Amino acid sequence: MTSTRTDGGTTGGDGGLDGAVVAVAGAAGPAGQAALLRLAEAGATVVAADADAERLAQAVDAARFAHGGATVTGDTVDLLDLAATREWVARTEKEFGRIDGLVHLVGDWRGSAHFAETDLGDWDVLHNLLIRTVQHTSLAFQGALERSGNGRFLLISAAGASNPTAGNAAYSASKAAAEAWTLALADAFRKTGGESPPPAAAAILVVKALVNDQMRKERPNAKFKTFTDVRDLADAIAGTWNQPTEEVNGQRLWLTPQP
Ligand SMILES: NC(=O)c1ccc[n+]([C@@H]2O[C@H](COP(=O)([O-])OP(=O)(O)OC[C@H]3O[C@@H](n4cnc5c(N)ncnc54)[C@H](O)[C@@H]3O)[C@@H](O)[C@H]2O)c1
Repeated sequence: MTSTRTDGGTTGGDGGLDGAVVAVAGAAGPAGQAALLRLAEAGATVVAADADAERLAQAVDAARFAHGGATVTGDTVDLLDLAATREWVARTEKEFGRIDGLVHLVGDWRGSAHFAETDLGDWDVLHNLLIRTVQHTSLAFQGALERSGNGRFLLISAAGASNPTAGNAAYSASKAAAEAWTLALADAFRKTGGESPPPAAAAILVVKALVNDQMRKERPNAKFKTFTDVRDLADAIAGTWNQPTEEVNGQRLWLTPQP
């Protein structure tokens, strides 16, 4: 497995996640950058992974500089490689002693103007990006998140998963499959807990679309009314640790009006 790593120092954060270790998968995109910063601000040690080494290094550096002293590490990991994903978990647990969260942010979009024009090649791409990486991260992280005692597995899904539009068949079906997979993990956490609260919670945060500062800069007149700002998504991610596992496990948390 190829792996590069850069580490920062530690001075603690503004509480909430002090002492926690949170892994972010697909961390180099705009949502990842916001999540790294927010989790570091909350006091977590943040362990970021992405397949794109250059963009990942930029995201990790940005979070470190914006929150001086936070421990934010970056590992180049191809999450389509199950063995590499498991190695990432083992390495992280060995180095930091625990893992309290996996935030899944791997994404992309493919679609067409009309249903009849759907390119089944898009399905293959989205199957890998949106489903396979969820399968690998959930299988690799389940044990560590249960050992945490207060673990979180968080999927970011799209409102279209439960309300598909004609040109989004492959995208919506992929997200719906990822949601079902996440809910199966939630049931596994419930079963591990038995009569007690689950030792970890798997949950789905639902948005219609995401917006970031770069998008606002490029389209200054656009209102992005139905979009969720990546900072609000990051707040919602960090906020899931404020509720007990039994209240979060198996839930869809809507950050956009539910269709
Ligand atoms: N952007 C939106 O409007 C929108 C809408 C609904 C849901 N979402 C979801 O929100 C999350 C974040 O969205 P985003 O737009 O920031 O994501 P994104 O498309 O920027 O992808 C995030 C990262 O995933 C990485 N990645 C791709 N393949 C990988 C692999 N095999 N291994 C490791 N990393 C890999 C990419 O390099 C990228 O940096 C995603 O799960 C996405 O599906 C986004």
